[in-house]
This record gives sequence, structure tokens and C-alpha cells, in this order.
Amino acid sequence: MHLPKAELHLHIEGTLEPELAFALAGRNGVVLPYADTEELRTAYLFDDLQSFLDLYYALMAVLRTEDDFAELADAYLARAAAQGVRHAEIFFDPQAHTDRGVPIGTVIEGLGRALERSEETHGISTQLIMCFLRDKSAESALETLEAAKPHLHRISAVGLDSAEVGHPPAKFREVYAAATALGLRKVAHAGEEGPPEYVREALDVLGVERIDHGLRCMEDPELVDRLVSERIPLTLCPLSNVRLRAVDVLEEHPLPAMMAAGLLCTVNSDDPAYFGGYVGDTFHAVHEALGLDREQLRTLARNSFEAAFLDHDEERRAR
Ligand code: ADE
Ligand code: ZN
Repeated sequence: MHLPKAELHLHIEGTLEPELAFALAGRNGVVLPYADTEELRTAYLFDDLQSFLDLYYALMAVLRTEDDFAELADAYLARAAAQGVRHAEIFFDPQAHTDRGVPIGTVIEGLGRALERSEETHGISTQLIMCFLRDKSAESALETLEAAKPHLHRISAVGLDSAEVGHPPAKFREVYAAATALGLRKVAHAGEEGPPEYVREALDVLGVERIDHGLRCMEDPELVDRLVSERIPLTLCPLSNVRLRAVDVLEEHPLPAMMAAGLLCTVNSDDPAYFGGYVGDTFHAVHEALGLDREQLRTLARNSFEAAFLDHDEERRAR
């Protein structure tokens, strides 16, 4: 689907296609425990979020140099451009790299190099969202924010991702307050596998402006009313929800009910190399499986620009 759109929920490490993983492994002398790309692809059968995260973090071992991160981001931007993306707000997971000895500057400057030429090369404006891994400590998140300070001109917002259940948003109260003081914007994954209460906490304790996923808000009608009346955007990822078994089949995804309830829904790809499609493929899939018509797809595309961290002029240019 080539409707002009913004992508707001995209983990850059989740765009690592098997072919690039093997190319980087060869370049960096990393031995992968798979014979080839075909065998690696057969591992992409997940039971839940954790079973995906185990492979997602393991495969990052191939990313070592600034050039690797720049190449990863550039490959995503080329694919996104071909699917109508005009603006992308891109997550990255610094702790997944610093924990294996890759300096945070290597990660941010490598990604930044690809992003700063993206408008010219791919016609996509970009922002970078630094995520804290919620299954690591609050202290580690604070250290990460501190370490990122020399590179803050490249970062627009902070986010929260990784294993959700047992790691409520309130654990990260202090680092979100510090990020606010630095002028950063705020989002958080909530209500993917975790309960509706985590969505409320992300809003009330962390002060986030958007909720990533938010799927489980549908279990709590009062919360839905609040999200509707405050026009809090949800960055939904339907293909991810199927692959990680949050919903059984795409045909049963609550997206149509969420739109009918008046929620500000956007559709995104999450980790497209693992979940079977980039954002244009996702638009196509919800059209086919859920019967969303052209007007509803246009609404989703319009919502993506409304929910983006763009000012009015930037929004007009991107659309
Ligand atoms: N990191 C990458 N993809 C994720 C997802 N869907 N949920 C939480 N953390 C993630
Ligand atoms: Zn995500």
C-alpha cells in the first residue's frame, strides 16, 4: 500500500534481515548457530514476546561498528520508502549493544549518519527514540541516559520496551523525569502482554504522549474512554500481535473495534524482518484480513501524521 504514511513503532534492530545478518557476521567474524538464511528463518516461530526477544537479542551479535548500524538503518529506510513511508520515528535499544561491549556512541552515530541523509536519499524525515530495556534495572536506564548525553542532539524521545510482564512503567519514574528535564519526548510500550493498568501507569507516572501497542486497553472500558477523550495515540502492530500470539489470527485482531470506539489508532510494523512484513504490507494485510476499506486505511495514514512528533509545517511537508 503506497498511501503516504508515518511509521511510529519500528525497532531498527527488528529490521535485521537474515541476508544482512549473515553478511555482517562474515564481515565481523561472528559465527551464527545457523547454516544459512533459510535455516535461520525456520527459527522465526514464536510462542510469545520472550521467545522472540531471545532470538532478537542473540542476532544483534553481528552489529559491531558504526558502519553496521548505518547500513542497517539505510536498508530499512530504502524498504520503507518503497512502501510509502514519508516520516519514521525509529526505536533503538542501546543497552542491548553496550552490554556486549559496543559503545553507545558507535550505535547512535552510526544510526544518525544514515538518518541525517534520509530525507535526501529516501524522501523520509526521521527521528530517533532511545528505548530502555524494562527487564533491566532502573539504575541501568539512568546510566544509559547519562551515557547518551553527548549524542542528545540526535535523539527526540525516550521509550520503554522488552519483556513487559513484571516490569511495570513505574519502575522507570526517575529516568523519565530526567528525560523530561532534558527536553525529550516520551513514549512507552504498554498493554502488549501487560495489563491495562500498565497503560494507565505509563500515562500517569511516566507522562507518555503515545502508547506503543496498548492492545489490552480493550479489557477496560474506562481506560478506553480516557484514551479517546485525551486523544492518546496507540501505535498498533497487528502482524506482531499475531506472530507473538497476542491474538490468534489476524482476522480476530481488535483493530476495527478499536477504530469504531474512537481510539486514535496507527498501524506499524514493530520488527518487520521477523514478523512477515513492512508497514505497507501491514496496511495490505489489515485490508485483506479485516476488511478495512480505503477510507479506513486513509484514516490510519492520517492518524499516523497526527500522532507523529512533527510540528505543523513539518507535518504538511511530510504528508
Ligand atoms: N522489542 C522489540 N520488539 C518488541 C516488542 N514487540 N515488544 C517489546 N519489546 C520489543
Ligand atoms: Zn515494539
